[in-house]
Amino acid sequence: MKICVIGAGYVGLVSGVCFADLGNIVHCVDQDIGKINMLNHGFMPIFEPGLEEMVKKNCKDKRLIFTTDLKKAVTYSDIIFICVGTPIVKNNNSVNLKNVFKVVKDIRKYIKKFKIIITKSTIPLATGDKIEKIINSKVRRKLFEVVSNPEFLREGEAIRDFKYPDRIVIGTDNKKVIKILANLYDPIIKKGSIYFTTSRKSAELIKYVSNAFLATKISYINEIANLCEKVGINTEDISIGIGLDKRIGSRFLRTGPAYGGSCFPKDTKALVAIGEKFKINLTIIKSVIKSNENRSSLLLKRIYKIMSNKLKNKIITFLGVTFKPNTDDMRMSSSLSMIPNLLKKGAIVRYCDPSGKKKEFNKYAKVSFHSNTNKACLKSDLIVIHTEWNEFKLLEFKKIAKKSNFKIFDMRNLYSSKLMKKNKINYFGIGK
Ligand code: UDX
Repeated sequence: MKICVIGAGYVGLVSGVCFADLGNIVHCVDQDIGKINMLNHGFMPIFEPGLEEMVKKNCKDKRLIFTTDLKKAVTYSDIIFICVGTPIVKNNNSVNLKNVFKVVKDIRKYIKKFKIIITKSTIPLATGDKIEKIINSKVRRKLFEVVSNPEFLREGEAIRDFKYPDRIVIGTDNKKVIKILANLYDPIIKKGSIYFTTSRKSAELIKYVSNAFLATKISYINEIANLCEKVGINTEDISIGIGLDKRIGSRFLRTGPAYGGSCFPKDTKALVAIGEKFKINLTIIKSVIKSNENRSSLLLKRIYKIMSNKLKNKIITFLGVTFKPNTDDMRMSSSLSMIPNLLKKGAIVRYCDPSGKKKEFNKYAKVSFHSNTNKACLKSDLIVIHTEWNEFKLLEFKKIAKKSNFKIFDMRNLYSSKLMKKNKINYFGIGK
């Protein structure tokens, strides 16, 4: 099939290359000429395992074309995916749809024969209706169909999540379109993914409710971890014990620092705003947001306590600063609030992250990046394991710290307290 993907970001780039890899001809459009040039020269604008080789292979096979020419791409294609960014508006938690509506007004100029317009970006309830109105004001209704097809891609596992999703959600009542899209997704459906069709509005809401529920699971286990610490129970046992109940499920029950990323923080707030728009008070999600916002300061206080409030000129090493492993994404990562507060207490901060140096810390004189884990930990007073990169899972701390009374604060429980105690290492975990 002939597909156009608009927006070469985390969602558009992954979706575009995966559709190409399924044998479709994909035009991936972005207004950022720098990004398009980068991609045409084989460089990736995002860090996603497996992406680079897949892009190169499909470009070489002429199934994947990167362009800024939206007219050519839309005219050539039958199916148009809108994958542009939908950031949160800070003060009122509503979603900024400027990019979406701009693209829609461009697309409608080039609709001369039947097109399927699909929103893959996360957009608030009933945005599809607005898009339909915008197009219909210039184009005959039977020449297009607006469909919601939300993505459930996790950063760092996006290609796998695209190829092996639990479900494909299609929001439209148009039977012909349902058949066409079943055909497009057929190779994935054949591998066992459920093809679920529903109304456009339901599909739009499913994305928010799904993310908000996962965020709820994380905040839930993080609060239980606070209790477990008080009563000397290992939260991991609780996670396993409840997760074995198939109604609960074992995933997204790992305690850690506050959840971050571009989706959970944004989508929980957006869902609360959607509720308010319809005069519905989503109190549970509001408390999840509050609980998560409090978590970074709670763990910061834990660091002060571990260091007996003596932080001046102490060397604190962060192992990992991204919001999760296998990504370079720093959006809403809890390290962004922790590190500046430690500097205010006079600490000297080093960090090591396999995805490289972070521009977010360039402005701090007392923060230094180290590509080598051993050097980052040498003579450190406190080693904070912030992100569970594989590179940090088998470290011989005594050998690399070379300091008598160094401490470890393991925010991802990568190590066993028992083993640390046996090796006489001052170790502090989370929820245990
Ligand atoms: C999420 C959703 O999982 C995905 O379906 C949606 O399309 C986009 O948002 P992502 O934000 O990329 O994906 O990362 P995810 O793996 O969900 O982790 C989000 C945050 O939760 C991270 O900060 C992670 O560290 C944290 N997390 C996750 C936990 O603290 N505990 C867990 O058990 C799982």
